[in-house]
Amino acid sequence: MKRETLPLPVVVPKIAPHVKRRQRLAKLLKEGLMLLPTSREATRNADAHYDYRWDSYFYYLTGFREPEAVVAITLGKNPRHILFCREKNLEREIWDGFRFGPAMAREIFGFDECYPIADLDRLVPDLMSNQAVIHTPVGADALWDASVAKWLNAVRAKIRQGISAPSEVHDVRRHIDLQRLIKDETEIDIMRRAGKISSDAHTRAMRMAKPGMYEYQVEAELLHEFVRNGARQPAYGSIVAAGGNACVLHYRENSAQLKTGELMLIDAGCELESYAADITRTFPIAGKFSPAQRDVYELVLESQLACIKAVKPGNPFGKYHEVAVNVLAQGLIDLKLCKGSLASVIETEAYKQFYMHRAGHWLGLDVHDAGNYRQPNGKWVEMEPGMVVTVEPGIYIRPADKVPKAFWDIGVRIEDDILVTKKGNENLTASCPKAVKDVEAATATAAG
Ligand code: GLY
Ligand code: MN
Ligand code: MN
Repeated sequence: MKRETLPLPVVVPKIAPHVKRRQRLAKLLKEGLMLLPTSREATRNADAHYDYRWDSYFYYLTGFREPEAVVAITLGKNPRHILFCREKNLEREIWDGFRFGPAMAREIFGFDECYPIADLDRLVPDLMSNQAVIHTPVGADALWDASVAKWLNAVRAKIRQGISAPSEVHDVRRHIDLQRLIKDETEIDIMRRAGKISSDAHTRAMRMAKPGMYEYQVEAELLHEFVRNGARQPAYGSIVAAGGNACVLHYRENSAQLKTGELMLIDAGCELESYAADITRTFPIAGKFSPAQRDVYELVLESQLACIKAVKPGNPFGKYHEVAVNVLAQGLIDLKLCKGSLASVIETEAYKQFYMHRAGHWLGLDVHDAGNYRQPNGKWVEMEPGMVVTVEPGIYIRPADKVPKAFWDIGVRIEDDILVTKKGNENLTASCPKAVKDVEAATATAAG
């Protein structure tokens, strides 16, 4: 039986933005050779692998998700965009799934040339020959560093034949970081959708969480909502923390039973089309905040709303953390959890007993996304339209002698994903309940 050509069995992202990013990078780098590998597959145990996750820099420039691939750009007047990837292999494809192979990959992913990954050792020294500089990740992967050294040495071995060897190796990531900081329309569209799916997941978790359930059962509700919407993975390990577990900032155990009277803190976001969402919500398991829980919650919410206002073009990145510290420190004084003047509580960092992390980070392909927070002159990077940050102040009160019992084991964090726009900002996770009355209305007990 002769088979018709089958449709592609894998989803291919819109490729034009990836080509454009390579072109922009080539312009920026000007001369030399750019060479960047994707991630390696990682063994989990015995012969089982972790689900494969491609390298974010590599994906940004290619849209290509197979392991064992390298992108190269010969820079200069007429840059050549080259991809090395796995060859087609019927037997491996029967066992593990579809592979593009160089011919199809060249066509679909917009490359000038495409070669089997097995040809890397043979072809890269030629690509490096007579180039002044190599742009590649440096120090990210020891095996890659060793390969680069091996190829450079292969070129050096030919200098008596009149070939010149590169004299400089630059870390290309700092250039891509600058690009990745400002999201393009394609990225913003994906991040809006990732934000919406993750908001829906938190709303579902609020509705489903009931006293007597276990944290992992609430985690399952988050995953259910992610996966049914095409986001096959969380962007990071979900934190599903009841009661005092919320005071462990990176709590991952997710095994405790939910009790009436406790708060539940969930920090979870999906990864959609390689982009992360990152949301935290805190809600009362029994549907109603206690007075102390409500006081702390309202303080964190007040600080978070003030922080979001400070996310706008022209403001230094560090500004909204300062806002968080000011509002939270004053609130801690008002609640009698810190003593002294606002200036002294900030100066002595007494507030850090209850608020010990920063107010947010870049968000994008990675949950803690690429890019420096300070400029080379030491000043904070200034906010620009297209940047995406999280805004996530919190208060965590562990049992302690000088802390009234009503506050013990209250951990509250509220986190949204904020896109900087020309006029100010857009909250990509705004549909997730946050006001006290909305949170109480969304919970299981309130919903009946
Ligand atoms: N979920 C990680 C963070 O909030 O930074
Ligand atoms: Mn988070
Ligand atoms: Mn975060």
